[in-house]
Amino acid sequence: MHVLLTAGPTYEPLDPVRFLGNRSTGKMGYALAEAFAAEGMQVTLISGPSALPDPVSPGIRTVRVETAAQMFAAAAEVAAAADVWVFAAAVADYRPAEVAVDKIKKSGDTLTLELVKNVDIAATLGQRKRPEQFAVGFALETTNELAHAQDKLRRKNFDLIVLNSLRDAGAGFGHDTNKVTVLDAAGQIVNFELQSKADVARGLVSLVLRYLNPTP
Ligand code: CTP
Ligand code: CA
Repeated sequence: MHVLLTAGPTYEPLDPVRFLGNRSTGKMGYALAEAFAAEGMQVTLISGPSALPDPVSPGIRTVRVETAAQMFAAAAEVAAAADVWVFAAAVADYRPAEVAVDKIKKSGDTLTLELVKNVDIAATLGQRKRPEQFAVGFALETTNELAHAQDKLRRKNFDLIVLNSLRDAGAGFGHDTNKVTVLDAAGQIVNFELQSKADVARGLVSLVLRYLNPTP
């Protein structure tokens, strides 16, 4: 079994010294890579800029990228050969329309940046998903959480979507713990306890394995 896993933030350059990014640390994605590898699966971890070291567990190959476009190119290369796709990356939705060759100098009192939409990695690959392939997406919502997550699952052709809660203290960006709710395409909902990201990862992997090998 081969797992394609995106993780971490993306950085979208503005000039040689600046970028647009986000607060994703990659912790959840890296924990998932370890948890899949512990089940004997081959993992291609496509990681945006994360301060975490490359996982050393056998079976994990880490590909470092910076931008959404690079993450898409790396993911597209392995997607057809992977049995499971997990999109844990916090991909920047937009990037600066132009990347300045030289450092942008300070001038007026305001500065307006034009941004253009990035490729949606999960949605684009979702259109190429074969029936035997299994896709897991993530969502972080602050309003109408379940409805938005369900809508994303459908739009991106996910089999499962993992909804992150920001309401619970100790969950989300930068924390070592996380509280998630998982929805499937049939409308089933599984609530996970607030627990370490490593435990959430192990729970998610065993849930994915149960979908892949249903016991009668
Ligand atoms: N995703 C992706 N490529 C993008 C944006 C998102 O692969 N350019 C993936 C994420 O890795 C995640 C899922 O899509 O698994 C949902 O990401 P999210 O940011 O919640 O969804 P968006 O469609 O970008 O919607 P919005 O940010 O407006 O809520
Ligand atoms: Ca987004």
